[in-house]
Amino acid sequence: AQRKRIDAALAPFLLTLETLQEVKNKMRTELEYGLKRETQASASVKMLPTYVCGTPDGTEKGKFLALDLGGTNFRVLLVKIRSGRRRSVQMYNKIFAIPLEIMQGTGEELFDHIVQCIADFLEYMGIKGARLPLGFTFSFPCRQASIDKGTLVGWTKGFKATDCEGEDVVDMLREAIRRRNEFDLDIVAVVNDTVGTMMTCGYEDPNCEIGLIAGTGSNVCYMEDMKNIEIVEGNEGKMCINTEWGGFGDNGCIDNIRTKYDKEVDEGSLNPGKQRYEKMTSGMYLGEIVRQILIDLTKQGLLFRGQISESLRKRGIFETKFLSQIESDRLALLQVRRILQQLGLDSTCEDSIIVKEVCGAVSKRAAQLCGAGLAAIVEKKRENQGVEHLQITVGVDGTLYKLHPHFSRVLRETVKELAPRCDVTFMLSEDGSGKGAALITAVAKRLHNVGQ
Ligand code: BG6
Ligand code: GLC
Repeated sequence: AQRKRIDAALAPFLLTLETLQEVKNKMRTELEYGLKRETQASASVKMLPTYVCGTPDGTEKGKFLALDLGGTNFRVLLVKIRSGRRRSVQMYNKIFAIPLEIMQGTGEELFDHIVQCIADFLEYMGIKGARLPLGFTFSFPCRQASIDKGTLVGWTKGFKATDCEGEDVVDMLREAIRRRNEFDLDIVAVVNDTVGTMMTCGYEDPNCEIGLIAGTGSNVCYMEDMKNIEIVEGNEGKMCINTEWGGFGDNGCIDNIRTKYDKEVDEGSLNPGKQRYEKMTSGMYLGEIVRQILIDLTKQGLLFRGQISESLRKRGIFETKFLSQIESDRLALLQVRRILQQLGLDSTCEDSIIVKEVCGAVSKRAAQLCGAGLAAIVEKKRENQGVEHLQITVGVDGTLYKLHPHFSRVLRETVKELAPRCDVTFMLSEDGSGKGAALITAVAKRLHNVGQ
């Protein structure tokens, strides 16, 4: 009887191939809607033009600063790029913390903090006097009218600073620099992390035309033919589109696969009703789904002797790294119990088996859903190119992809199954998206100087 009730709780997490196919088809429909002027407003994927019109070609060069805001870590980087036969990239970086009060304080405080970190970094590197060009990786949805302008559409993930939505993030950064009145910087480009990742990997592999993040959040960008992008003038060449696929389903189109646990996670989040697909597929939320299931099973008397502990009530206790540890096959159950213990959860051996099973169901569904989405993207690229078989590289970053013991494998298998005519190579980004942001900055700077 106990077994049956656990199976019943986890049943909605098992997705059939047909369901995944349906998710892929719906994603495809939304992608098309998002590109067309008439249907754009009703599409749940924003399909934001990035004004990045090519991948690196090795001629990029110079010395740049880069910021990387919006993932697990906030980084400031100095990137030196050499072109030609001895092309190379040298990077120096420093990680800074962004306290919760700052992430959810006022916009002015957030940007003052960022500038404070830049000042520390310049001081540390001994380059305070140099007015370097800067590429700003800002991992949130921005509506861009050029490479150096980006209006924040809305915060996602754990950020909620006031007075930023609807504002240009480059202006906010410039103003914060001016307020500090200590150094000057030339902000040349604002870049989504997916785009930075695609460019980082594109520097090594010219066939890389897709960037995927499976981390705190979930998102994809890809090179789209200009003629398909109705919202931007011109029909020649390509432009990178930031899909913001995390919002897929915000119009209700995947509500049939959302469970009551997904709804609880959504309601308890900073942005209820938004980023529904992201909340089923990314690191920031998977642990929360697990926690909701565990609470339910405990209430049913199937776990933790029916006692909901203080710890289990705490939002955010299951970070990606814990899920990854719990699901590691090398870990003995005793060690699983030790991890639960660390999280303040007293478990029996039976409990630990159930917890591991719950984690497995949640992360497998996440990887499959992400795979279904990616299958829609590669299929679209294949059709764009009008080829029978497509060879393509996807640049990937994010802690979920990197740390989780099964996520990347299930993701790859799902793409293979749902897009059999595409031969997809997954390339892990080792250097983060700051390198890509610097490459974009190099190109933008050169074009700008030529234009002057
Ligand atoms: C980093 C990139 O490596 O990965 C960031 O440099 C990106 O730009 C991040 O946001 C995504 O992963 P996570 O797990 O830190 O959100
Ligand atoms: C969120 C953001 C998106 C970003 C992704 C991965 O979905 O809205 O811009 O790319 O997280 O960090």
